[in-house]
Amino acid sequence: MILQRLRLRNFRNFEDEVVDFPERGAALIGDNGQGKTNLLEAVYYLEIFRSFRGARDEQLITFGCGHFRVEAQISAGADGEEVEVAAGYAREGRRKKVTVEGHEPERVAEAIGRVGAIVFTASDVEIVAGGPGARRRFLDIMLSLVEPGYVTALQRYRQVLAQRNGLLRDDAGPSELLAWNAGLVNEGSRIAEARARWVSARAPSFTRYYGAISGDQEAGIEYSPSIPAPAGAESALAREAWAEAFHMEVERLAARERRRGVTLVGPHRDDLRFWVSGGPDAVGLRGFGSAGQQRSAAVALRLVEAETLRAAHGRRPIVMLDDVFAELDPLRAERVAELFTAEDWGQVIVTSPKPSEFAFMRDSLTEYRVLDGTVVPV
Ligand SMILES: Nc1ncnc2c1ncn2[C@@H]1O[C@H](COP(=O)(O)OP(=O)(O)OP(=O)(O)O)[C@@H](O)[C@H]1O
Ligand SMILES: [Mg+2]
Repeated sequence: MILQRLRLRNFRNFEDEVVDFPERGAALIGDNGQGKTNLLEAVYYLEIFRSFRGARDEQLITFGCGHFRVEAQISAGADGEEVEVAAGYAREGRRKKVTVEGHEPERVAEAIGRVGAIVFTASDVEIVAGGPGARRRFLDIMLSLVEPGYVTALQRYRQVLAQRNGLLRDDAGPSELLAWNAGLVNEGSRIAEARARWVSARAPSFTRYYGAISGDQEAGIEYSPSIPAPAGAESALAREAWAEAFHMEVERLAARERRRGVTLVGPHRDDLRFWVSGGPDAVGLRGFGSAGQQRSAAVALRLVEAETLRAAHGRRPIVMLDDVFAELDPLRAERVAELFTAEDWGQVIVTSPKPSEFAFMRDSLTEYRVLDGTVVPV
């Protein structure tokens, strides 16, 4: 996918800015606090319709203004079809409006993933080193983009979970819970099955990318589900197998859940495990990895995400790298840059305060200067 043109209105520190991007890609150079990350945040907003930095929509509106709007012209290749994706948010009434080719979908969820973009940031290391919530968030965003029905299952699961937790807190009896258990198991098994399938399909890619970045060190990822992984989880009946296992676990934990007043099993308690050298029983990257190993794992994971998007859409995603090279030692930085060239990626948009940091990618990228909410070609 290629981002051709981006328009920002009252988005963060951009008042009214139009930027045309070359097909190969762009290098955005600018001092701290000038708007580099804000610009990438705007592009990715059109992919998932929320901030990748976890900011609330109203925080994205320029201070003192009432609404923001972001528009992008995307094409599926040099002579591919073009699509316009736009989004706006008004403080008043907290109104969010999303359009694809000028048409508003019935639900925002229908429009996600249209841009086909992926963003690497320095804070991605939190996925590896932070709490399990960061890893579930990673899985959820990615699977929402590629897995039909995932986002709906997730929304329903969260609703059921909240209701069920409310009942458990209020000392509800087994019969009252029964009505909610079916929904919990139904939506939850769908989520667990999709997560398990993704990890088993993509774990070898993670190992390969990590090896390429680190100079052949071994690392891997492993799904660590809250529901005990059922036999037959790999088969065509995997969904049923997960549902059955979930159902049994809900029954087994019924008394304890009533005592504790909270739902103790389900995908809301899943984790994704990262390990280095010696297989899954060896060292966990979260607790024992060096900062550089954790960073390399985060980059490898994003590369796997890009591969996933590419497989799902049959198109190369727009890759955005937010000040990522500064985080890696020079050799690893160069290997990462090589990956993007060797594997024939599409459009790449990189940011950095220092142009020297991506000197090795410079030939293919047009340089822009970001200064106080403006973007000008150098
Ligand atoms: N809602 C908003 N309205 C106006 N300005 C905002 C808003 N939110 C953030 N900013 C401003 O945007 C700037 C930060 O922009 P951004 O995070 O894109 O910087 P950056 O160029 O990526 O810097 P760094 O190199 O430090 O990462 C800050 O000056 C901040 O005050
Ligand atoms: Mg930044």
